[in-house]
Amino acid sequence: MKPELVLKPLVSELLRDVLAVPERLSAMMDALGSPLNIVVPEQISENVAEYRAVYGSHRLSGGIYFAHKANRSSALIRALAAGDCGVDVASLGELRHVLEAGFTGDRIMATGPKDAEFLWLAARVGAVVNADSREELARLASTVARFGLPPARVMIRLSAFESSGVPILSRPSRFGVHARELASVLDILDEHRAALRLLGVAYHLDTTGVEEKALALEGCLLAMHEALGRGLTPTAVDIGGGFGVNYLADRGEWERYTTELGTAVLGLRPPMTWQNHGYGLRAGAGTLRGTLGVYPAYREVVGPRYLDELLNHESARLGRSFATLLLENLYDLYIEPGRGLVDQCGLTLARVAEVRTTHSGDVLVRLMANSHDISAEDHAVLMDPVLLPERPGTPTGVYLAGNLCLEDDLITRRKVTLPRNPVPGDLLAFVNTAGYFMDFAADHALMQPIARTVAAYREAGGWSWCLDEQFWPVKGNRS
Ligand SMILES: Cc1ncc(COP(=O)(O)O)c(C=O)c1O
Repeated sequence: MKPELVLKPLVSELLRDVLAVPERLSAMMDALGSPLNIVVPEQISENVAEYRAVYGSHRLSGGIYFAHKANRSSALIRALAAGDCGVDVASLGELRHVLEAGFTGDRIMATGPKDAEFLWLAARVGAVVNADSREELARLASTVARFGLPPARVMIRLSAFESSGVPILSRPSRFGVHARELASVLDILDEHRAALRLLGVAYHLDTTGVEEKALALEGCLLAMHEALGRGLTPTAVDIGGGFGVNYLADRGEWERYTTELGTAVLGLRPPMTWQNHGYGLRAGAGTLRGTLGVYPAYREVVGPRYLDELLNHESARLGRSFATLLLENLYDLYIEPGRGLVDQCGLTLARVAEVRTTHSGDVLVRLMANSHDISAEDHAVLMDPVLLPERPGTPTGVYLAGNLCLEDDLITRRKVTLPRNPVPGDLLAFVNTAGYFMDFAADHALMQPIARTVAAYREAGGWSWCLDEQFWPVKGNRS
């Protein structure tokens, strides 16, 4: 018999502990509704320590800035405020949130495009302003001058790095200053020496490719050299986020699934997806066309290991590893992991509302949640949920649909194999949702409720929980 096409999620020990008592989860949902997010602040502190260990092994100094956009939770931000991690904020709302959580300006980095209010508050509290454009830099200089603020520490975000020798594609970005425009940025910094202090240069690339990041890091090191040559005194290189997460427990399952998906798109086996959706693949004259547009959900080199690999990578132009180059120049290394820092920090629960069989024979499971509440699929991450409570049964393939009266409100466009037939009242736990899949896109469409978030933490007597907004680091004995 062929093995089932499953994509079992990787579940950390802490999350397994949280899932271990389904009656407790069910009681929480009776009180707070479906869907429900659970975050585990203790985990984020452990994750910070793992990134820190990579710095230690390369004898590097610098700052870790959590990219707040990955999750809105107050509990996670407050757990970070209690430690030594910094935070990257990309809006006025996020900046206000972290200030309220206890972050001081020296531990905050403001990234992304900024409006006047965001820029003013960032400068007022002494946050590092990671400038997205020349115009923004000029506006910051005039804000500092107009309000008599202390000089602002700035990073310059660069993009579109050019390779020498073997061409390496550097994807175009809407953000940052084109690397070729560095000289004019340095002119602005020169002109506004009283208002702006160059702390360093930065990039953030939304890619998993190490080669592309190595090219950007090399470009930043060369930019540092140019800035020093102009008499400026930058000390840090910021390599953004994008270290990635491994979502799945088993490499074999992932490889089997993706291979079979291609076979299904070609029509050589029964469809595995709603209306034979190909996730970017399509059949053309009997062959497979297009590219599979999904996140590589099974990856071994992710998070701190990915950072380590990048640091060990040799710069093509400068001839030594990036770790050595940073160390020799006494540069600080800044990173801004989002998804990677909230790896295994939370899960989303949804109650099964209805199970029915369509006229074409598909089993449709409607959840009391929608595809904005659980947006892994929107972010192209394919990973099975955990069905609770565990009971013996026969594996069954189902489609998971949301509670919006919209054709495309599917939580999964692929058939998910559950270990038994689900029934109304069961719970589905979508693990590892804290990085972008939990509340990034949640809204009140159709006046459906959005998930409440609770923080789970350990005390002497076992696990306790409270509403996310009521969690402060004094709770629990570990975070
Ligand atoms: C400037 C910046 N830094 C960091 C991040 C975090 O990226 P990731 O969650 O992939 O680590 C982002 C994400 O969009 C970003 O725009």
